[in-house]
Amino acid sequence: MLEFGPTSVCTTKPAALTNATQFRIALPADAEALAGLHTLSWQRNYRGILPDTVLDGALYDEHLAVWRKRLSSSTPERQFFLLAVQEDAVVGFVSVLLDLDPEWGARLENLHVHPRNQGRGLGRELLQRARAWVAGAAPGQPLHLWVLAANAPALAFYDRLGGRAVQNNLWELPSGHKVSEIRYQWPTRAAGTGG
Ligand SMILES: CC(C)(COP(=O)(O)OP(=O)(O)OC[C@H]1O[C@@H](n2cnc3c(N)ncnc32)[C@H](O)[C@@H]1OP(=O)(O)O)[C@@H](O)C(=O)NCCC(=O)NCCS
Repeated sequence: MLEFGPTSVCTTKPAALTNATQFRIALPADAEALAGLHTLSWQRNYRGILPDTVLDGALYDEHLAVWRKRLSSSTPERQFFLLAVQEDAVVGFVSVLLDLDPEWGARLENLHVHPRNQGRGLGRELLQRARAWVAGAAPGQPLHLWVLAANAPALAFYDRLGGRAVQNNLWELPSGHKVSEIRYQWPTRAAGTGG
């Protein structure tokens, strides 16, 4: 049974994306809630794309280890972990790492909205806030990400938000499975501008 930290994953009917949604930087105490939503989102949205053995294995523990490590980083200024919170429950998050792939710019490494909160503008808001952070923290850098090629809803979302598909790749999982992915990129955005 999963246990969550002070800010837990949403389990009740969510409020709309209005004044009820607050955005804040993740703290070390949020690792469990982040791992919980991260795992739930993979299991709900990547079924049939990633192998069941990955989705039903030790995924929560793996995500928890990732989040604990990230949230205790010695270079917090090089990363951005933003939570969307409703009534103390994490309903979405975005993460950006500046140094994963400098050739392509800042890497948007994760973007997940709780299944019950999707389609209300939360993903757009998180992506825009991530772009605004990059413009301030790494002026002149574009933003890029990898998305699973079979994740059609996410491709439509990124297309809608002005991303450009720029590269294909075969991602080899630790299990040996290979999955097609597509790199999307957004051009540089000047600090303090909208869009
Ligand atoms: C992809 C995801 C982040 C989008 O977040 P969301 O909150 O559902 O999207 P929004 O409501 O902010 O949508 C923003 C725009 O994209 C469009 N859009 C979103 N999903 C879409 C879809 N499946 N098909 C077509 N358009 C879509 C919306 O219509 C909206 O456009 P509009 O403002 O012109 O109406 C969210 O659905 C999610 O968490 N998916 C599962 C995890 C995932 O795949 N993450 C991406 C990993 S790379």
